[in-house]
Amino acid sequence: MITTIFATKSSTKTSIAVSAAVYLKNKGVDVLLCDLDSQKSAVIWMEYRDADQSLTSIPTVEKSGTTVYSSLKELSSKYEHLICDCGGKNDASGRYALLVSDLVIVPVFPSNISLMTLNQSLRSLEEAKVQNEGLKAVIVLTGVNSNPRIKDTDEAREAISELIADFDYVTLAGGFITARKIWSDISCTGQGITETTNEKAVSQFIELMNEVLK
Ligand SMILES: Nc1ncnc2c1ncn2[C@@H]1O[C@H](COP(=O)(O)OP(=O)(O)OP(=O)(O)O)[C@@H](O)[C@H]1O
Ligand SMILES: [Mg+2]
Repeated sequence: MITTIFATKSSTKTSIAVSAAVYLKNKGVDVLLCDLDSQKSAVIWMEYRDADQSLTSIPTVEKSGTTVYSSLKELSSKYEHLICDCGGKNDASGRYALLVSDLVIVPVFPSNISLMTLNQSLRSLEEAKVQNEGLKAVIVLTGVNSNPRIKDTDEAREAISELIADFDYVTLAGGFITARKIWSDISCTGQGITETTNEKAVSQFIELMNEVLK
């Protein structure tokens, strides 16, 4: 199985990719984390992780450009689950990953500007779908305000539902990720969110993973 975290905008992709890989690994899944971003943020995260011997090691590879397609295909026969982290630009690495992915997770902030870029991500999915017929995608709201009085999430859900109405292979996850400081803390401890003691963040993420990776 190949799951790619893709969005043409910066939207907590690396954080989700690393935490998804850690979550699966700790559940006993034979997982490989694939960093397709030239910034190498997932690789750097794993360097912090490797420095802490109490944390399980997550095998990680870097791939870029046209080799992404053949490399991911080959690696998917060696591992149970590949989790791929794409860069924030609509670059070749990300687009090749879409051609071989079973599932694409598209994180999006519930803000107007972020929703505008969702169209771009949907266009990339449409292009990939021509060659990758089995492709499925799920949009996940991220960085959601923890104050329920702020109604941007409901509005975003409505806008996204309209945007994806004609895409039968794209869904909007019921689960979401709230904006919490713990997410920025873990980027330099090497942990995945499920390894922290922040119960709300942990249960929210597990619920989301159970929904999207089922
Ligand atoms: N749920 C969250 N709440 C608050 N901050 C978060 C959350 N998730 C991630 N962050 C922080 O937001 C910033 C961007 O996250 P991240 O690097 O995961 O995004 P990205 O989409 O991979 O960005 P890029 O496009 O640069 O690769 C980081 O500082 C990260 O620690
Ligand atoms: Mg990133």
